[in-house]
Amino acid sequence: MKIHVLTLFPEMLKEFFQSSMIGRAVQKGILSLHAVDVRGYSLDKHKKVDDYPYGGGAGMLMQAQPVFDAWKDVTGGGRVRTVYVTPQGIPFTQRMAEELAKEEELVFLCGHYEGIDQRVLEETVTDYVSIGDYVLTGGELPAMVMIDAVGRLIPGVLGNDSSAEEESFYNDLLEYPQYSRPEIWHDKKVPDVLLSGDHRKISQWRLEQSRRRTAQIRPDLYAKYERRQELIGRLMKDKRNYIHMIESLRRGRAEILFWEGDDILLYDRRCVTCMISASCREAGRRMLDLIPGETRSVVASQAFLNELFCGSGHSGADGSGGGEVPEAARICSQFEIHSECSQLLYTQKTPLPVQHKDIRLLTMDQLDYVSERYSYDGRSYVEARIREGVMYGAFVEGEQVGFIGMHSEGSLGLLYVEEAYRRHGIARSLEAYMINRTLEKGWTPYGHVMVGNEGSFALQEKMGLYRSDRTVWWLERK
Ligand code: ADE
Repeated sequence: MKIHVLTLFPEMLKEFFQSSMIGRAVQKGILSLHAVDVRGYSLDKHKKVDDYPYGGGAGMLMQAQPVFDAWKDVTGGGRVRTVYVTPQGIPFTQRMAEELAKEEELVFLCGHYEGIDQRVLEETVTDYVSIGDYVLTGGELPAMVMIDAVGRLIPGVLGNDSSAEEESFYNDLLEYPQYSRPEIWHDKKVPDVLLSGDHRKISQWRLEQSRRRTAQIRPDLYAKYERRQELIGRLMKDKRNYIHMIESLRRGRAEILFWEGDDILLYDRRCVTCMISASCREAGRRMLDLIPGETRSVVASQAFLNELFCGSGHSGADGSGGGEVPEAARICSQFEIHSECSQLLYTQKTPLPVQHKDIRLLTMDQLDYVSERYSYDGRSYVEARIREGVMYGAFVEGEQVGFIGMHSEGSLGLLYVEEAYRRHGIARSLEAYMINRTLEKGWTPYGHVMVGNEGSFALQEKMGLYRSDRTVWWLERK
């Protein structure tokens, strides 16, 4: 990722760019950071960049010209996400950090004095963001806060892959207390359970501590957590048909946009995907109105589509036709049906044997190979999967012969094996490998297989996966 910071005080950022995790990411070439001195773009002979505000008032304003020229120089005038850090912005959150971490290039614009001429903001800024309800003397510190929060989410920046997933604000819980050597300090002993070596007990203790802490310090977060747990509990009664929702909630990805009885609408902001299940047409209609405008995909449970399409002129989930159903027309005008899938889930906790030994994490070096062979989604989708560190390849004598991965919403898929290497157990090994990686994270592995793909069903069932008795429909934005 490339980040440019437009500032009057580039020296404030230099140390930050070279230190700690961010500094290491820069050295590894994962991040490239540039402090751009706006003063260098001033056309004034004294390099002045500020002037009095029209209409009077305290202080000086940064003028439009040097800011615009600096911005144009780094972006080429293109559509690069440009964040103006300002107390007038929307509050910065972990969610926003996750969203910004998906960009390839970002610009941060730091104000000073009393702000920046409105006209240049209108021409350059895409996001107005504040780090809190207090006023600082300039935007450099807030920009560093945001770069730190965004930077550490980029795959490869943190040494340990799971550390970003485990801490505060994932799963709506604050992190548990941590201890290091010595075992006793100031007469205080490390809790016994942490020295027990019993990982199950340690996890339970940590969860309990997280819950207590959150309930005490952040009752607002705790209420969200409890509601999510309640919904997971309910969905677990029909695990096979709701595994996509259960895992999305458990992994801290989905937020609940609507839930009343069996009517559920979840939203995974990171992959702009909704998951929907409705018990009747009225509920379906209400939830349709709640689908966020930017949603790219909808995973609709069969019951929901039956309700909407049954008796409609459109060919629906059950292929029925007939009279007009306005809701069906409404969803059809925005989304098209991409596929009908059964869900398959691996409910055991034990890892599977992996026969084929040469399976490795893929890097950008294999992007061409994968995108040329995986035709369902575009190259940028495959690129993002590799960048997230969730694609693995099978190799024979150094040559790649297949791959597998995790889709953006969390299901296993993207499976491919070269024609010449089929029936050699490679697909099975790739899948077992991927299942084991998923189990290591404490998740339930699941996948979506298109109805009709009998070869895949046979493989999944041979490996011990269970099949849902109802299907889900993937709808894609037109
Ligand atoms: N600039 C000055 N104060 C700020 C704040 N609280 N957030 C973002 N930018 C700022």
